Amino acid sequence: MSDRRRVLSGIQPTGAGKHLGNYLGAVRHWAAMQDEFECFYFMADLHSLTITPDPAELRQQCRKLVAELLAMGVDPAKSTLFAQSHVPEHPELAWVLSCLTGFGEASRMTQFKEKGGGNVGLFNYPVLQAADILLYQAHAVPVGEDQRQHLELTRDLGQRFNSRYGDTFTVPDPYVQKSAERIKDLQDPTAKMSTSKGGPGVLWVIEDDKQTLKKIKSAVTDTGREVVYDVDGKPGISNLLTILSVASGSSVEALVKEFDGKGYGDFKAAVAEAVLGMFAPVRARFAELIADPGYLDQVLREGAAKAGPIARETMTTVRDRIGLLAPA
Ligand code: TRP
Repeated sequence: MSDRRRVLSGIQPTGAGKHLGNYLGAVRHWAAMQDEFECFYFMADLHSLTITPDPAELRQQCRKLVAELLAMGVDPAKSTLFAQSHVPEHPELAWVLSCLTGFGEASRMTQFKEKGGGNVGLFNYPVLQAADILLYQAHAVPVGEDQRQHLELTRDLGQRFNSRYGDTFTVPDPYVQKSAERIKDLQDPTAKMSTSKGGPGVLWVIEDDKQTLKKIKSAVTDTGREVVYDVDGKPGISNLLTILSVASGSSVEALVKEFDGKGYGDFKAAVAEAVLGMFAPVRARFAELIADPGYLDQVLREGAAKAGPIARETMTTVRDRIGLLAPA
């Protein structure tokens, strides 16, 4: 067993793919954490069932997600990368935890309320997420601000179980990445870049360079012609400055100085160059990976072989603590 702190996070496969906001806000950090922490990253395919996707599409999206994660730097030699559905202890623990969750407590989850009802899976979504985390005794869970409430529920359920049945779960610390929210839609720079919205304001990590170029060139800019950072007055330019800053590694202040006296055209050309440069190795690697489904399956098989025993060990303790008979 490793003495490094354990980090765990999940990402859903559904949707057209991962976008710039997912990359800069989440997956890039996942990759960066791999040396310092013992990392478990998984594809939340069971969570995706809450939108009842088309089976053929789901299968394709799952392969695509694994290839994207690997292309974006998740390294199976360093981290455990697996599919949630390959470890049946996830829904098993979710059932146990759902019996410790108040109906009102689950009803108060804002993501559920925002969806305005739906199926029981959607209602139970945060409980499954709590099971994902608690099964692995994770210390920290890197997620975006929108997941904060789900993390709080996870902590509450972990503590509730521990105080009722004895110490069983590590109660994870929130590790909320503020930057996850910072990337805005290029056409609607007051709204965050989002998978479900899609359209010309969303830069997919995997798309043609030409499409990326076109989207950046036609990004909404603001009145005036100075490149300055002013989120309220100039949301479009500020968003592009943020993107250029993270893609190039220069600070926003340095960029504002650099583009002083230059027009929006020069500025957008620089943004496009930086983004294409950042994505070039990811796109090249993705093309190789997606052409090799056997390898993608192998990564998931090896990931489940590492994750499974940990999940089973936790679940054996849980079963015993709650009073279920061990199978003879
Ligand atoms: N709900 C998370 C999201 O949409 C995905 C997720 C599922 C997750 N299970 C998790 C994230 C466990 C962290 C830990 O972003």
